[in-house]
Amino acid sequence: MKKIGVLTSGGDAPGMNACVRAVVRTGAYLDMEVFGIERGYDGLIAGDIEQLGPRDVSDTIQRGGTILKTARSEAFLTKEGFDRAVAMMKNFKLEGLVVIGGNGSLSGAVDLKKAGVHVIGLPGTIDNDLPFSDFTIGFDTAVNTALSAISNVRDTSQAHERTTIIEVMGRECGDIAIYAGITGGAEIILVPEVPVDLDDVCRQLIESRNKGKGSSIIVKAEGVDIDSNILDEEITKRTGLDVKVAILGYIQRGGSPTAQDRLLASIVGNEAVKLLHKGVSGKAIGMQGGQIAVHDIEKALKLKKRSVEDLIDLARTLAM
Ligand code: F6P
Repeated sequence: MKKIGVLTSGGDAPGMNACVRAVVRTGAYLDMEVFGIERGYDGLIAGDIEQLGPRDVSDTIQRGGTILKTARSEAFLTKEGFDRAVAMMKNFKLEGLVVIGGNGSLSGAVDLKKAGVHVIGLPGTIDNDLPFSDFTIGFDTAVNTALSAISNVRDTSQAHERTTIIEVMGRECGDIAIYAGITGGAEIILVPEVPVDLDDVCRQLIESRNKGKGSSIIVKAEGVDIDSNILDEEITKRTGLDVKVAILGYIQRGGSPTAQDRLLASIVGNEAVKLLHKGVSGKAIGMQGGQIAVHDIEKALKLKKRSVEDLIDLARTLAM
């Protein structure tokens, strides 16, 4: 292939720019033409497509967000929009497409593949919910942002002898909560993968206090089936503890990507273009066990998520 497109889609993730940069520059290295598609599938449908050269991605590796902009395209989910997206690939004579995004975006890539488009999917989401890669682009940065917030909250929690519930993002995946919770020394971590036992939570908090802990941190993933403010009310009612809630929200999606996210983004971006150059497509690329992992994109999205129970146990042991 000589002419390819690249787009970022869904929620932005720190490291997406590093990935676009790797795609553009690897393309230039292999004498290919690379076109940036704006606002994900919306831009593909609208034909918002422009050629990018190595200088167009200068000074972007350290930036969060995405220079291509992103969207959760409603139009792409309609037959009319989808057909127009496929037609636009032909209009612009794009022979291949690199899609950087999360679950929904990569499902869109599978549909494009079925329609004959030569796609490669790359894991771009803070959620870490794509089992074909040990980590997704943006996850490490989001964890570090959450960790820094936990450290700040810990100071004030200790000063006031409070229990603080810190809610983090991640959709149905508890990985941000688990990684930030363990590294932030949380007393309790609540994730969607493990049912919440309120009696157990309250018992742990009281035991903690009785062991001499003046304050406690609960890190709760947004996908847990209980609203953080209701959890606050329930714990207050059952234990009499002073509880506060901090919902971190979008600050987790921004910021300069960590070295780990930049490296992952650079490696998979480079590999995607090398494969398209060789005429290989229909793949999702991640890193597993420190190695590049190339899966059939359809199968990749059906892989089972790793169990998190051992990490939850670790957190519990260390919270004594
Ligand atoms: O998928 C990334 C993510 O930040 C999730 O963690 C969160 O649930 C969602 O996106 C928020 O989406 P939106 O930007 O559409 O509000």
